[in-house]
Amino acid sequence: MKKTIMDLDLTGKRVIIRCDFNVPLKDGKIVDDTRIVESLDTIRYALDQQAKVILLSHLGRVKEESDLQKNSLTPVAICLSEYLKRPIKFINRTRSDTLKDTVKNMRNGEVLLIENTRFEDLDGKKESKNDPELASYWASLGDIFINDAFGTIHRAHASNVGIASLLPNAIGFLVERELNALSALDHPERPYVVILGGSKVSDKIGVIQALGEKADKLIIGGGMAFTFLKAAGYNIGGSILDSENVDFCKEMLAKYKDKIVLPIDVTASLDTNKLSSSRIIKVNELRPNEMGLDIGPDTINSFIKALEGAKTVIWNGPLGMYEIDQYSIGTNQILKYLTENNIETILGGGDIVAASAKLGYKDKVSHASTGGGATLEYLEGKELPGLKVINEK
Ligand code: 3PG
Repeated sequence: MKKTIMDLDLTGKRVIIRCDFNVPLKDGKIVDDTRIVESLDTIRYALDQQAKVILLSHLGRVKEESDLQKNSLTPVAICLSEYLKRPIKFINRTRSDTLKDTVKNMRNGEVLLIENTRFEDLDGKKESKNDPELASYWASLGDIFINDAFGTIHRAHASNVGIASLLPNAIGFLVERELNALSALDHPERPYVVILGGSKVSDKIGVIQALGEKADKLIIGGGMAFTFLKAAGYNIGGSILDSENVDFCKEMLAKYKDKIVLPIDVTASLDTNKLSSSRIIKVNELRPNEMGLDIGPDTINSFIKALEGAKTVIWNGPLGMYEIDQYSIGTNQILKYLTENNIETILGGGDIVAASAKLGYKDKVSHASTGGGATLEYLEGKELPGLKVINEK
């Protein structure tokens, strides 16, 4: 068992908490603050313990100068200070004398947020390559390190693995909650059904391989279903195709033919912008250039049939282009069925969690993970470097 924040004495200590505040932004505004909200327990606990709280996070990927402004944590600082109902000191540098002085002068119960750790990637990818000098600089600012960034736990970066290897450490409440929820999938109550959607097969190869064996049923919808349909010999019109993975899909269809459930009808359109042109058709009726954008009503029924009696469901990736109401029906109906029937359901991945929030089911499912890639890697059974480095109790 990994040490948790409760196992360490935080009083009067400088506690560095690595959060994952990698939230979606539009025009500089936070579109979904789930990751911030989910981090609050750990931050509040550290404050209640009279720690000096130093927060680190990345935001997006920083490759060039022009990425700096749009990936600043300034909006996160504002949002956090509203939730915590106290001022947050925000230092708009990842290293500076002001940062060092501010830390030196912090009082117990104060919070400081340091600018996006990936600003350090501009110069030789220091954060992402776990540069030892950068890790020891950040570690020198604290006495204790808490990893509460579940979304980044599959990365070995300076701000998680680097600092953790230099300071007494533990996981925070968010990581603990995620591990508790996801570990239920190590020995799931059966029938165990996996739902996969989203656009690309390539993102899901590891998960399909790992869960194909383990699951009782594998329901496949969303854009990725068309690569499977192509592999099954259908003409998929202008639907999204992951051409490099058709052979992989063929192999999976042969290996798991009794487990895989594919769409039989779709809502299709020639143009995602022309809603009026959409029609519901069988999957073999797609015209050239016509794209399947959501599962159709017969597919919804067939997916529900495959879910009947399920005891555990893990779901990654929406079943249609949920951002447009007209193509959110499949995702909506399956979420409705799962929640109304109290089926243990875990949602993993940014898009399906965002879809569940938009459609009003996020608080009704058993667990909505804050991890995208991290959740997939957990499900694939891969080692998570950000967790491995944390001390055992
Ligand atoms: C995520 O959103 O999956 C995490 O914040 C990790 O981000 P990354 O894929 O850019 O490392």
